[in-house]
Amino acid sequence: MSTVEAGTTSPQSILPVRSGLDAVSFRSAMRQFVGSVSVVTTWHGQRPWGMTINSFTSVCMDPPTILVCLNARTLTASHVRSCGRFGVNLLSRDQRPISELCARPEVDKYIEEHVVAPRGPSRDAGPPQLLGSLAAFDCRTIEQITVGSHLVAIAVVEAVDLPGAAAPLLYGQGRYMDGIESTGLT
Ligand SMILES: Cc1cc2nc3c(=O)[nH]c(=O)nc-3n(C[C@H](O)[C@H](O)[C@H](O)COP(=O)(O)O)c2cc1C
Repeated sequence: MSTVEAGTTSPQSILPVRSGLDAVSFRSAMRQFVGSVSVVTTWHGQRPWGMTINSFTSVCMDPPTILVCLNARTLTASHVRSCGRFGVNLLSRDQRPISELCARPEVDKYIEEHVVAPRGPSRDAGPPQLLGSLAAFDCRTIEQITVGSHLVAIAVVEAVDLPGAAAPLLYGQGRYMDGIESTGLT
């Protein structure tokens, strides 16, 4: 894979882009980013599985498109790569325990007790949905790009569920944060 200079990329460029910035500076700067916490859900065999992320971003409205960045070494990235379908669940502040459960490295992340029925995959069931999420997105991958250590999965959103309003779970500066009250769905 070839390397190109930052600032000279065209949409067809081959990644990765070379940068002079060191990893420590980049990590320190990114720690200042505060964002909402989500869990990406997939089926692992017949069982629901989840991984905590904060790299969820809306790409465009038409078609409704999102992206997530997943460490390519994780089982979740393998699921997304092979199946092409995944869920994104935006967490409420009350869901911090499930966020912690789904962020533990190198342990199983089965989430049977936390999902809305059906608790097993069926042809049309879609990805597992977490109980108590602010919003659940049913996503189908349209593009997968490997950038350094991560898989960037760009996906069209085929369905959403908005179970209810609550304060969001936020993460930044290396910790979970409180502070934003829900103003309800608009
Ligand atoms: C708040 C928070 C946000 C995270 N965001 C991401 C993310 O966007 N992408 C990612 O690959 N890992 C992210 N992680 C780390 C993964 O949750 C963690 O590495 C993963 O669960 C480990 O999976 P493994 O057991 O398959 O290695 C985040 C962790 C936390 C606590």
